Amino acid sequence: MAILVINEVSKSFGSLQVLKKISLEVQAGTITGLVGPNGSGKSTLLSTVFGLHKIDGGSVYFQDQPVTGLPPHRMYQKGIAFSFQIPRLFFQLTVLDNLLMAAREHIGTKFYGALFLRHRWQQQETQLVKKAGEILKMLNLFKLVNHKAGELSGGQRKLLEIGRVLMSDPAMIFLDEPAAGVNPVLSREIYQKLHLLCQKGLSILLVEHKLEMLLDFADYVYMMDSGQILLAGKPQAVISDPLFYQVYIGETKNAAVSS
Ligand SMILES: Nc1ncnc2c1ncn2[C@@H]1O[C@H](COP(=O)(O)OP(=O)(O)OP(=O)(O)O)[C@@H](O)[C@H]1O
Ligand SMILES: [Mg+2]
Repeated sequence: MAILVINEVSKSFGSLQVLKKISLEVQAGTITGLVGPNGSGKSTLLSTVFGLHKIDGGSVYFQDQPVTGLPPHRMYQKGIAFSFQIPRLFFQLTVLDNLLMAAREHIGTKFYGALFLRHRWQQQETQLVKKAGEILKMLNLFKLVNHKAGELSGGQRKLLEIGRVLMSDPAMIFLDEPAAGVNPVLSREIYQKLHLLCQKGLSILLVEHKLEMLLDFADYVYMMDSGQILLAGKPQAVISDPLFYQVYIGETKNAAVSS
């Protein structure tokens, strides 16, 4: 069953048409990969579907409900969380606080809850700290739990950004280059965890340049170029298509293999 259906979505910035009637589907409980050369429109597709840009045309359905043009906070309420290509963190807050801020429905931040549900919000805070600890261990960030996010390296910031989306218990996540700047061993571990989360029901749409990760972990792959989907299928079939080599590998083969 498709959890996300994107129908003929278009987006222009001024006279530059970045998305030209893009259609794709993400099946529930799978990892679907988006691949394509720099500037082909991958990030713009995720951002537009998530409501960060005004959509020019087309429609989007999530869990069989129309969500076209909803703003990001409504998409989040529907159960989608977005991990950005460039992490958007609270740099002055600790790693732990960055995760706690991302959790849903803090009872203690509401007037009634803070005054009358003290026991419940204390219990909730304890559970959230425990959950944050588990996510940080999974992402090898636990040793930095009390460091400010601004002190982390580029790769560690990417990991914390992934941690933040996982904290919100989403039904679906958009990940824009989750392994960029992360070493190959840790990248693989992250993908293994994402794969396990999918087996428990999470659905993932991600942008990835590291072809070996798509080959090993993606269930389905779309290749974009110049705002259009040119290829779709199982990762092996897409990556071995002559058109893939022509459009993508020719440009980035060395980077993809070495990164
Ligand atoms: N906010 C914006 N305003 C104007 N042009 C934009 C904006 N965002 C993206 N673009 C342009 O849209 C095109 C697609 O950009 P996008 O970031 O979606 O590509 P991408 O496939 O994610 O590339 P990369 O692999 O480098 O991340 C580029 O030409 C880019 O300059
Ligand atoms: Mg991008």
